[in-house]
Amino acid sequence: MLAALKKYLLVPKLVRLSAGAPRDHHVAWDRFWSTVKTTGASGDVLWDSGTDHEMQGYVDRLRLHLDRALPVVDIGCGNGSFTRQLAGHFPYAVGVDVSAHAVRRARAESAGLTNVSYAVRDMTASGAGHGLDAELAALAAGGQAGRGANVFIRGVLHVLGERDRYALAENARAITGANGRVFLAETDFRGNAIDYVSHLGATLRSIPAPLEGAIRALPMPGRFGPRERSLAFPASRWELVEEGPATIETMPLSNPARADLIPGYFAVLQARG
Ligand SMILES: C[S@@+](CC[C@H](N)C(=O)[O-])C[C@H]1O[C@@H](n2cnc3c(N)ncnc32)[C@H](O)[C@@H]1O
Repeated sequence: MLAALKKYLLVPKLVRLSAGAPRDHHVAWDRFWSTVKTTGASGDVLWDSGTDHEMQGYVDRLRLHLDRALPVVDIGCGNGSFTRQLAGHFPYAVGVDVSAHAVRRARAESAGLTNVSYAVRDMTASGAGHGLDAELAALAAGGQAGRGANVFIRGVLHVLGERDRYALAENARAITGANGRVFLAETDFRGNAIDYVSHLGATLRSIPAPLEGAIRALPMPGRFGPRERSLAFPASRWELVEEGPATIETMPLSNPARADLIPGYFAVLQARG
């Protein structure tokens, strides 16, 4: 009992660390990406495990539910680790992110790939989804404007507020049109912020450096599960094709030899009407 309560002694430390994070979330994300020096398993980005293991767990569902003749838009692509993997399964992949520094890094990490490109866009802004479908059709060899594109979202909705989640979903709708579908995978950790950081290796004595970097710089994440999905993608606007548990992999934090795992949630959705 005492041991279980001991972790709450972390509260003052967390409050102190997070006090300096910019209040404007877009500024926070861009400043975070401007400080990243390396990515992958021993890098600075908590949610980049540096392996394709998590993606491998999604491939069967992508094959089953998404039209693989259509291109794909990776919303909130960060350094493009998933965008590059998606490019192996779809004719063309575009990563979009609100942070110009993230997009610069994603482009540098994707040098040499001919079916990947990136754009800076706030995907919660009104109209941000318009035009992406036509741009993609022009980029993808043999693509047809108006056929729509698939949308992939990983680890983005759980860092947004409710209104922004809905706005992002509406922009996804403008991209998918009648033929594309959305595949999303998000962390759905059941517990409070102290439970969450403890799960990722924070103790009273030390906090893994990439976790501390995220706490210092970024908005406090929430969770995204079936309830949050039903608000962002309401049944009146979206048909739920499939949903279920997922496992989000981070870089090694609590054990240097293996990725840390966060309980998550996936869903596949198709726009109605
Ligand atoms: C936790 S990271 C996940 C990055 C990437 N999806 C991955 O799994 O490697 C969240 C990303 O969402 C981006 N982001 C946050 N708000 C956004 C918005 N309004 N529009 C587009 N991207 C956004 C951030 O800049 C960041 O790169």
